Amino acid sequence: MKIAMVGSGYVGLVSGACFADFGHEVVCIDKDQSKIDRLHEGVMPIFEPGLAELVESNVKAGRLTFTTELKEGIAGAQAIFIAVGTPSRRGDGHADLTYVYAVAEEVGQNLSNDAVVVTKSTVPVGTGDEVERILSASGTSHRVAVVSNPEFLREGAAINDFKRPDRIVIGAEDDFGREVMREVYRPLFLNESPILFVNRRTSELIKYAANAFLATKITFINEMADLCEKVGANVQDVSRGIGMDNRIGAKFLHAGPGYGGSCFPKDTLALLKTAEDYDSPTRIIEAVVKVNDGRKRAMGRKVVDAIGGQDNARGKKVALLGLTFKPDTDDMRDSPSIAVAQALVDCGVEVVAYDPEGMELAKPLMPEVTMASDPYDAIEGADAVAIVTEWDAFRALDLNRVKSLLNAPVVVDLRNIYRADDMRAMGFTYESVGRP
Ligand code: UDX
Repeated sequence: MKIAMVGSGYVGLVSGACFADFGHEVVCIDKDQSKIDRLHEGVMPIFEPGLAELVESNVKAGRLTFTTELKEGIAGAQAIFIAVGTPSRRGDGHADLTYVYAVAEEVGQNLSNDAVVVTKSTVPVGTGDEVERILSASGTSHRVAVVSNPEFLREGAAINDFKRPDRIVIGAEDDFGREVMREVYRPLFLNESPILFVNRRTSELIKYAANAFLATKITFINEMADLCEKVGANVQDVSRGIGMDNRIGAKFLHAGPGYGGSCFPKDTLALLKTAEDYDSPTRIIEAVVKVNDGRKRAMGRKVVDAIGGQDNARGKKVALLGLTFKPDTDDMRDSPSIAVAQALVDCGVEVVAYDPEGMELAKPLMPEVTMASDPYDAIEGADAVAIVTEWDAFRALDLNRVKSLLNAPVVVDLRNIYRADDMRAMGFTYESVGRP
């Protein structure tokens, strides 16, 4: 089956490469000529483990190609995926659908066969209806079905998430749409991955509801962590204790500096806007967004407290280990490190940072922070080290070396990757999140 993927960013590229790996013929389309040129040279526009290899092998096998020409790319494709960005609209937090609608228009004008148009971009409820309207207004004589098929890919684990999904959600309004999507996902169907067929609006809402629920789970445990610190309880044990209840589940209960990334912050805001527009307030999500926003800077204050509080912070130096919103990505979008760094800079602290992949993208977001060449370079002469992202490289630091390089042996572990007892036994002043 021929599949066209319009938009070769994170979601488009991972999905396109995986579909090709299933044996489909895939064309990834993007307007950005330099991105397509680089893809032709085997250079990935994003950092995602395993992606370069997957792209390379499928290009070699002749199943995966790249182009800037939409008309040529969609010709003969039975499924045309829209996988362009839906950033938060400036000012009001609504998802910006400009790119989605522009693609729908161009597809309508250039369609040369019957096809299913699939929105993979995260789009608010009702977007599929508008895409359908745009396509029929384009005057195409071909049969078109508009389907919603949200992605649930975690950065850093996206290929595995795509190939071994917990579920595939398809929102379709007719048999043509359902049949083509069954064909698209047949290889996974054979693997017994559950496919859930629902109506289009339901599918659109499932994506937001899933992300909002996960954001709520994280925020819930983060507030429990704060309470643990006050009452002398251990949040990791609380997570284990509640997570063993199957109704709750153990995942997404790691307390930390707050969620960031390309999805949770944007999708929670967009869901709030939809709820407002339909006069159906979602107060839990409102609280989640507020609590998470406040938490990021509060984590900066926690680090300031560890170096003696605001009054003693000026002129001190703090090493930040980890800048990306989570490990195994170079993504800096809404990363808690930005607020942590800012809170420190605002107190007159000199901040030196190291991240295995994120420093390039981090630089413009934190111009006052100096980037180091490795963790030890960052730590040298610092009055404290703060672990902000749980990269594997930080789990196995040479702690004796860390201690000897630090000006004062203070470690603030915002991801709870070290054991408090061990750290204190080594002579560190050790602070973590929600643990005594
Ligand atoms: C998320 C969803 O998991 C994915 O299904 C969706 O399609 C896109 O958004 P992603 O943003 O890549 O994926 O990262 P994820 O692993 O979900 O983490 C999001 C944020 O939550 C990170 O900042 C992470 O550090 C934080 N987090 C996650 C916690 O603080 N605690 C947890 O227990 C889990």
